[in-house]
Amino acid sequence: MNVLKNYWELGSRVADIVEHVLALPEPKLILPTGSTPLSLYKELVNRQLDWSTTTTFNLDEYVINPNHPQSYRSFMKKHLFDRINIYPNNCNFPDRNTQAYEDIIPEVDLCILGIGSNGHIAFNEPGSSFDSVTRVVDLDKQTIEDNSRFFDSIDDVPTQAITMGLKTIMKSKKIVLMANGEHKLNILNIAMNGEITESVPASILQKHKNVKVYYCD
Ligand code: F6R
Repeated sequence: MNVLKNYWELGSRVADIVEHVLALPEPKLILPTGSTPLSLYKELVNRQLDWSTTTTFNLDEYVINPNHPQSYRSFMKKHLFDRINIYPNNCNFPDRNTQAYEDIIPEVDLCILGIGSNGHIAFNEPGSSFDSVTRVVDLDKQTIEDNSRFFDSIDDVPTQAITMGLKTIMKSKKIVLMANGEHKLNILNIAMNGEITESVPASILQKHKNVKVYYCD
């Protein structure tokens, strides 16, 4: 595990990896939302890189109107896509047509992940099959509580989401797991050093050949 000095350093170190991938002819990335990648996205915007040949696939999306201010599509537009020269048509998000999404996700060059306090990656909650692919899921009580900070009230938090599966994520050539805050340290240790089990979805990453973990408290 790479321990960084602070949140901005975390963003900057992962931005170095993204910058490297963006130098490929037709880069393909899987991207997360949430609080963890915000310093990364800010740093990427500041670097004014060329995204014109890049294609992105977001990990997940709520079952929600895509134009809702808390949809993950709105989040990505606000924090990254509207600030870089990526083509909107090259920014892909899952929707109810889950098979179609699964079918277009290639072996991406880089997949960036956050981790939930219950060990989820994307919205693969504890108990998700290691063979899972893109699908509609019910959100865990813990995840609804964690995400209520983005909504006016907990009753406004969507109870369902569409997520890439664990098998989908594992197809990636390289995976970077980002975590920020001491409250993530325990689950991070369990996921990366404990038993590989579907009760801790992120533990599947131990089976991937090219995973790097970046943490700051
Ligand atoms: C979001 C996603 C989630 C988050 C996780 C951590 O696209 O894939 O798995 O990465 O819930 O969220 P934060 O970063 O807000 O702690």
